[in-house]
Amino acid sequence: MTDTMPPDLLEHALAAKGFMPPDEGALLHRVARERLPHGPALEVGTYCGKSAIYLGAAAREVGGVVFTVDHHRGSEENQAGWEHHDPTVVDPELGVMDTLPTFRRTIARAGLEDHVIAVVGRSTTVAAHWRTPLSLLFIDGGHGEQPARDDLASWAHWVMPGGLFAIHDVFPDPADGGRPPYEQIYLPALESGAFEEVEVAGSMRVLRRTSGVAGDPLG
Ligand SMILES: C[S@@+](CC[C@H](N)C(=O)[O-])C[C@H]1O[C@@H](n2cnc3c(N)ncnc32)[C@H](O)[C@@H]1O
Repeated sequence: MTDTMPPDLLEHALAAKGFMPPDEGALLHRVARERLPHGPALEVGTYCGKSAIYLGAAAREVGGVVFTVDHHRGSEENQAGWEHHDPTVVDPELGVMDTLPTFRRTIARAGLEDHVIAVVGRSTTVAAHWRTPLSLLFIDGGHGEQPARDDLASWAHWVMPGGLFAIHDVFPDPADGGRPPYEQIYLPALESGAFEEVEVAGSMRVLRRTSGVAGDPLG
């Protein structure tokens, strides 16, 4: 068994609708393979399941389960008139985004329904009731300031000691992209003293929890 994506699932991941470049997806897959034997992984920001295939591939190989949280109504930049809007994922009756049907088809076609579990709801609401230490946390949810701040405050303390915390769309140089994942998630996580950086690929950063106990405040 190598640590690269199984070819059948790589094909599904590349074909899936979404926002996960192959090199960053490959890193997600590799860190999920390392961590899943130690407990569940959780993703914030499912969209149509592209990154979930990279995570679910690891679960198929080494066992374990990946929870993926999204209200499936899209972020600000996915709404009509914005840069990342896709009219094919709009509910025709309600006239609002609904990425859940596409996600379900994507994960079913990939054969990952036993490994990738959708949790449909607002990130902060789900987190308020979450009590399980995480072997791996991946945050790729709302990219505005408040949603980014909320995701850090809601989820990072559930990473177990030795567990990994991956953050997407981290751009230290403002010329490369939006600030909130960098300023509201990545920097405060490092400044808390509870995490150290272990891997980088493109805009993906992977931190490891070096102190504290899952569920206790960071720092
Ligand atoms: C950048 S996309 C995720 C991309 C995905 N990881 C991929 O590989 O294509 C962000 C997702 O976060 C979701 N989202 C934004 N804010 C949220 C919130 N407060 N609670 C739950 N989901 C949220 C949006 O609905 C959207 O599907």
